[in-house]
Amino acid sequence: MQLVLQNISHRYGGTTVLEDISFTVDDGEIVCIVGPSGCGKSTLLRIAGGLEQPGAGAALISGAPPEGSLNPLTYIFQDFALLPWRTVEDNVSLVLEDHGIERRERRSIIADVLARTNLADFAKALPRQLSGGMRQRVAIARALAVKPAIMLMDEPLSALDSQTRELLMDDLIALWSRERFSACYVTHNLNEAVRLGRRIVVLSRRPGRIREVVEIDMPLTERAARLGELETLQRRVWEIMREEAREADREISDVA
Ligand SMILES: Nc1ncnc2c1ncn2[C@@H]1O[C@H](COP(=O)(O)OP(=O)(O)OP(=O)(O)O)[C@@H](O)[C@H]1O
Ligand SMILES: [Mg+2]
Repeated sequence: MQLVLQNISHRYGGTTVLEDISFTVDDGEIVCIVGPSGCGKSTLLRIAGGLEQPGAGAALISGAPPEGSLNPLTYIFQDFALLPWRTVEDNVSLVLEDHGIERRERRSIIADVLARTNLADFAKALPRQLSGGMRQRVAIARALAVKPAIMLMDEPLSALDSQTRELLMDDLIALWSRERFSACYVTHNLNEAVRLGRRIVVLSRRPGRIREVVEIDMPLTERAARLGELETLQRRVWEIMREEAREADREISDVA
């Protein structure tokens, strides 16, 4: 399946937050979105997921969803959003109960996604017994349970310390290598963007417009070993962002 964003513009009251955004997330592709704080990244993701109607333009999905998909588009947020009183398996179960999946099938799906995210030994644990990284893996397992065609990830690792973030990035890369999921991945962290993105959509400060799309034609599995090349790319993205951040900073000080 493909996610197509066509000429999306959006405003809240008198403030334009997004202007004429068009790009596509192809099947099996991770597209990262970076941009200064407040430029409309989360808004764009909500529009992509159909949670919000764009003022202009359209977010479309085309092609057939994966077999057995309960939800073509699924979110993963920064704050895990697990129910603290439910065990790991019951947290995953929740989305399946929502879809009316009967108990036996639920158990088989849960076992499958926990195995795929290396959480099988923690099925009976409560969220508070897990580290932040593990909790976010539960959130990823829960997202996988509905067999989404495209995952919409809003800063999924940014609440984690840098070591845990590295480990989870490795997990995501391993998962992607096996399953080739598609994702639209919003991040502040340019290192994450160059490690994970097939393309990086760099947005300007608010109103978010596409400043540049940086393509990274390097297999994900090779990236950990080619950090020098990635650093160069990361610097290039940062150069674009820095100009935008400066301008935004100046605007704020002009007002003050
Ligand atoms: N529901 C809303 N009503 C009014 N204004 C909103 C609403 N949601 C977001 N905004 C405003 O729209 C702009 C873009 O917000 P958004 O959360 O999409 O930015 P962002 O790029 O995700 O920011 P961050 O990097 O801080 O996560 C901000 O100025 C925000 O205050
Ligand atoms: Mg945001």
